Formats: sequence, structure tokens, C-alpha cells
Amino acid sequence: MPRMGKGVVGNFREEPLKGKPVSASASEMAEVVLPAQTNALGKLLGGHVMHLVDIVAAMAASRHANSYMVTASVDYIDFRNPVSLGEIVLLKSHVNRVFHTSLEIGVDVYSEDILTGARKHTTSAFVTFVAIDEHTRKPKPVPPLIVKTAEEKRRWKAAAKRRDIRLAHRLNEKRDGAHKER
Ligand SMILES: CC(C)(COP(=O)(O)OP(=O)(O)OC[C@H]1O[C@@H](n2cnc3c(N)ncnc32)[C@H](O)[C@@H]1OP(=O)(O)O)[C@@H](O)C(=O)NCCC(=O)NCCS
Repeated sequence: MPRMGKGVVGNFREEPLKGKPVSASASEMAEVVLPAQTNALGKLLGGHVMHLVDIVAAMAASRHANSYMVTASVDYIDFRNPVSLGEIVLLKSHVNRVFHTSLEIGVDVYSEDILTGARKHTTSAFVTFVAIDEHTRKPKPVPPLIVKTAEEKRRWKAAAKRRDIRLAHRLNEKRDGAHKER
């Protein structure tokens, strides 16, 4: 069973952090789509969806780590189906993988028709958070993740590839930044 993460802070080697299952931090939130959050076609604004994605992802991240978390990156977001005025927008989040001080959260967004109860998958997103020590304000280790189901194992594997892409992108940005400063 994959487990990751060691408690190393400053010069102190702490006891290994205790693993937590994905189910312990999986989160959900929902709200009714109101006129103030819609465009001229009566569809939920993409920016509002992004706001909700960040919030529900932060819930799962901080529940897993029991820590302050900051958003380090959000992978691109596709909007496959719109959510209409009067529908319910439902968001579900779960930890996909813990790295060291960071973890990846997967978020799925659905629309729900109030009259029929029919649900449509509208958006998926991946958000990386970093745990911040409340005293030093520096990144700190996150407890390991215990993955149990076949789906959790599939997400755990897939998250490694996305991390490689993110870190390569980060390196390129740093190199570009260094060029611009010259
Ligand atoms: C995220 C942040 C804490 C990283 O700080 P840093 O000094 O670069 O820290 P480190 O290089 O030690 O990296 C810490 C962790 O963040 C991860 N990380 C940093 N930038 C990342 C990025 N763009 N994408 C994915 N992971 C990233 C690192 O991989 C590392 O994870 P690991 O320990 O699991 O391997 C810092 O950049 C920050 O505070 N950013 C602003 C966060 C914020 O305000 N968010 C709100 C929205 S703007």
C-alpha cells in the first residue's frame, strides 16, 4: 500500500506522521445557481466555478493535513457542460496523492437539475496545496495517504505524471525569470 512522507522539520527528525485514508478528508459542497453568478445566457460564470473549486479543494487538503494550506498551483480547467440558473452546482474533492510538503487534490463538479435530480459532470480540476507551519510560516510535511480502492490507486498513480509536468513547468518559469532579470 503506497504511503509517503516523513516528519522532518528544521534540525529535528520527528516521529513519522500517521497515514490517513482518502475517505477521512473527502469533501463536498453545493449551492443553488443565482442570477448574480450567471452570464447573459443564464449559465454559471467560469470564474465562480474556479472560486468554488479552490474552496472545496482547500477543505479536503486542510482536513487531510490538519494544517494551514496555500494553493501552489491549479492545473488547467475544462468546462464540459454549463450549469444553468436555478440548478444546483455540486462539488466533490479528495486527496489524490501526498508528496512531501505538498499534495494534489482532485475536484469534480456536477450540475443537478432540481426537478428531475439528474446530474451532469461539468468540470474536473487538480489543485496542488502546500502545508504551512503555523509558527515558522514555512512548508511542512503532510501526513501520508492511505489508498485502498482501485479508483484511489488509479488516481494516486496518475497524480505522479501531473506532478512531473508541474515541476518541469516551474523549472522553466524559473529559468525564464532568470533570463528576464539579466
Ligand atoms: C507555494 C509556496 C509555499 C512554495 O514555496 P517555495 O519556497 O517555493 O517552497 P519549496 O520550493 O520548498 O516547495 C514546497 C513544496 O511546494 C511545491 N510547489 C512549489 N511550487 C509549486 C507549483 N507551482 N506547482 C506544484 N507544486 C509546487 C514543491 O514541489 C514542494 O512540494 P514537496 O515538498 O511536496 O516536494 C510559495 O510559492 C507560496 O507561498 N506561494 C503563494 C501561495 C498563495 O498565496 N496562494 C494563494 C493563491 S495566490
